[in-house]
Amino acid sequence: MNAVPAGADLLDTFGRPLRSLRVSVTDRCNLRCHYCMPEDEYAWLPRETLLSFEEINRLVEIFAEFGVDKVRLTGGEPLLRRNLPTLISLLKRQTAIQDIALTTNGILLDEQAESLRDAGLDRITVSLDTLKPDRFRSLTKRDTFDRVLRGIAHVRTVGLTGLKIDTVAIKGFNDDELVELIEYGKCVEGEVRFIEYMDVGGANDWGMEKVLSQAEMLETFRQAYGSVEPIQENSSAPARRFRLPDGTTFGIIPSTTTPFCATCDRSRLTADGMWYLCLYARHGVDLREPLRMNDDASLRTRIRSGWQQRVDRGAEDRKALESSSERGQFIQIDELRQDPHLEMHARGG
Ligand code: GTP
Ligand code: 5AD
Ligand code: SF4
Repeated sequence: MNAVPAGADLLDTFGRPLRSLRVSVTDRCNLRCHYCMPEDEYAWLPRETLLSFEEINRLVEIFAEFGVDKVRLTGGEPLLRRNLPTLISLLKRQTAIQDIALTTNGILLDEQAESLRDAGLDRITVSLDTLKPDRFRSLTKRDTFDRVLRGIAHVRTVGLTGLKIDTVAIKGFNDDELVELIEYGKCVEGEVRFIEYMDVGGANDWGMEKVLSQAEMLETFRQAYGSVEPIQENSSAPARRFRLPDGTTFGIIPSTTTPFCATCDRSRLTADGMWYLCLYARHGVDLREPLRMNDDASLRTRIRSGWQQRVDRGAEDRKALESSSERGQFIQIDELRQDPHLEMHARGG
């Protein structure tokens, strides 16, 4: 089968290239965070539909032909997938993939950091929303705060680099901890990024009144640190980065108040091989079917034409609803029961 011409030219309808692929390796999670996965039980993806590591690796090879050069492994919680380092080693052999990152809740990091490093993981992001054990318990419904902190500490011990700490900033929950979180980031040599609470999925009872905006966060930091300098960067990454007077850097991901759809080069592969072209997309492209039929031509056609027809600007569309006060829960619960892919945890946060 002939490879298509190099994919650097593959652009969507707004001229955006296909670069970053977020691969969810499981829809299961060992936390129940209120903003992401609050229910105890969900309609889980059937086991036989989950892609094997070889299947994921093959898909990534084909995506790489079209310009993908960054892969981020997500979940649910990706470290629940057994032998994840084996997948990382496979992906690492692909020379076109220049960056392999992982987003984890950190619980299993104390056990796995070493083997992730040995497999060649380039960067790691750990979600941590609070430094108060009781808040952690009420947010996540689990008692694993100490384990997460141990896991984060272990990242540095084993010499894994590129640590980021992702914090979803929620009014009335952790808005009084922003400065402490930055100070914690300094101790563990991780860059903290504050994410505006997003109206993704359907079960998290999102409301605009809970969104701590980028402007409000910056005001808090100015009061605490004096000056906060924006760092000028030419990047498609969602985080805007800032520098404090002592040189510490941090980021804000203002998806809710200041969407970055115009430069979005990312798409998402679910654990069962559905390809979503936007965090907010309601429908995905089935790649599992041609993959399991060994039909590379059809896979290439689906990827090429899917991206060429891409019109998604999900976060901007959601923002536009604010003027008519229609911005609320994105997906209704009955829709979620019919299609588990609609939840954030199925498509990787
Ligand atoms: P790198 O650029 O690979 O460092 O990763 P990143 O900056 O994209 O960070 P990460 O993938 O950890 O994403 C951080 C958070 O940003 C996610 O958990 C989401 O909350 C939010 N986010 C990531 N991707 C998107 C996106 O495509 N659209 C929107 N609206 N938000 C996103
Ligand atoms: N708003 C913002 N970020 C979210 N995440 C999940 N749900 C939301 C939401 N509603 C992101 C967080 C978390 C990652 C796994 O997914 O960054 O750390
Ligand atoms: Fe990209 Fe969709 Fe996120 Fe906008 S909302 S940045 S188009 S994934």
